[in-house]
Amino acid sequence: MTTQNDLKRLVAQAALRFVQPGRVLGVGTGSTVDLFIDALAAARLDVKRAVSSSERSTAKLRAIGIEVLDLNEVEDLPVYIDGADEIDAGFHMIKGGGAALTREKIIAAVAQRFVCIADASKRVDVLGRFPLPVEVIPMARAHVARKLAKLGGEPRWREGLVTDNGNVILDVRGLAIADPVATEARINEIVGVVTNGLFATRGADVLLLGEASGVRELRP
Ligand code: A5P
Repeated sequence: MTTQNDLKRLVAQAALRFVQPGRVLGVGTGSTVDLFIDALAAARLDVKRAVSSSERSTAKLRAIGIEVLDLNEVEDLPVYIDGADEIDAGFHMIKGGGAALTREKIIAAVAQRFVCIADASKRVDVLGRFPLPVEVIPMARAHVARKLAKLGGEPRWREGLVTDNGNVILDVRGLAIADPVATEARINEIVGVVTNGLFATRGADVLLLGEASGVRELRP
């Protein structure tokens, strides 16, 4: 039987063909990306420099001999490879299950091409079953939670977690995300929100979807 982990490994391997030798590579965060970094190490491609969306991925990249650059030093980033918690037909995503959403969104904004690597369970018709992560400045946690409740969501503090940026996460259940672009903008307007895990204004450009029958390469 093909497990979810097998599918993650398949898409991680398939993503290697999007890597541009000799160029800086954008690397995201999560269990699928961990497998991608393992595949990258085994493939011995000419990748010497990367930017990374988390301390976790940075450590893994350095361990295989890849230099991790400050994004401010990088002007040209051809490809960013990252996973998703949910992705819809328009390639809007929910991300941030691994709490790296803000750095992920910043790198995605700089990259020319966002390649999403996901197993089939992540493909949904409507976003929102996965609780939407919102990164919040610590002193604004209660204020932001009240505002999110007014929007119809049920925010829950991911207690004990501190993001790489020193902030906290509220996971929001029960949001009807009929219009991901509007919801992304609306939540980001709340004072104290750093950003939210909707990647709608800047979604993915390519989806490598791992299914029992193999990897499908899809465009929005
Ligand atoms: C990290 O913050 C997330 O955005 C991940 O990209 C997402 O949670 C996918 O993670 P997995 O690859 O572990 O499913």
